Amino acid sequence: MTEPRWAADGSDAAVAAHIAAVVAQGDRILAFPGGTTPAPIFALLAALDLSRTTILPGDERRVPVDHPASNFGALQRAFGATRARLLPLTTGMQVPPLDLVWLGVGPDGHVASIFPNVAASRDTEVGVIAVTPDPLPPEAPFTRLTLSLASLASAAEIILVIRGEAKRRVVEGAITADDLPVARLVRAARGAVTIFWSA
Ligand code: 6PG
Repeated sequence: MTEPRWAADGSDAAVAAHIAAVVAQGDRILAFPGGTTPAPIFALLAALDLSRTTILPGDERRVPVDHPASNFGALQRAFGATRARLLPLTTGMQVPPLDLVWLGVGPDGHVASIFPNVAASRDTEVGVIAVTPDPLPPEAPFTRLTLSLASLASAAEIILVIRGEAKRRVVEGAITADDLPVARLVRAARGAVTIFWSA
């Protein structure tokens, strides 16, 4: 297990600069999260030359793509006018090798849609799995598709972008102690894990 690194600068601009450096390397495949944190970072990334970049959601709420809760819909709104190739998450899809996985972390330690009620025994499944969070998160009470923990962990690198004191404590505690999804992911990660935190 590689020890996760806490970035010295966890700001939106620092996250965007980190991702821009990956994009600049050429043909790259990136998985982006849903939630509330990404929007300002998406706006920064949309200014890049994304003509050799493929972006897919790390997880998806099972709603129509034009539903405000759709993560793929959010990617379309953010990057649809760019030259990025956007890939929806579908059951049974062949997940391409991922150059960078960007994840948020929930207050319960979930990453993507791997919630604490998703058994660790499913971590080794490959590809896209269907899950039902229990309890359904009030901010997005939908069943989900998610890249499996094994697929997430296989990425060349993982970044966790978290905001606020409570989430810093969740991540700090998970990494050293318990069996929350974020802890299991960090332990299973093949590549570097960098945490971008700001208050
Ligand atoms: C989703 C996300 C989810 C999110 C975390 C953090 O589909 O909701 O992929 O895993 O990243 O819940 O969300 P915030 O960015 O709102 O803190």
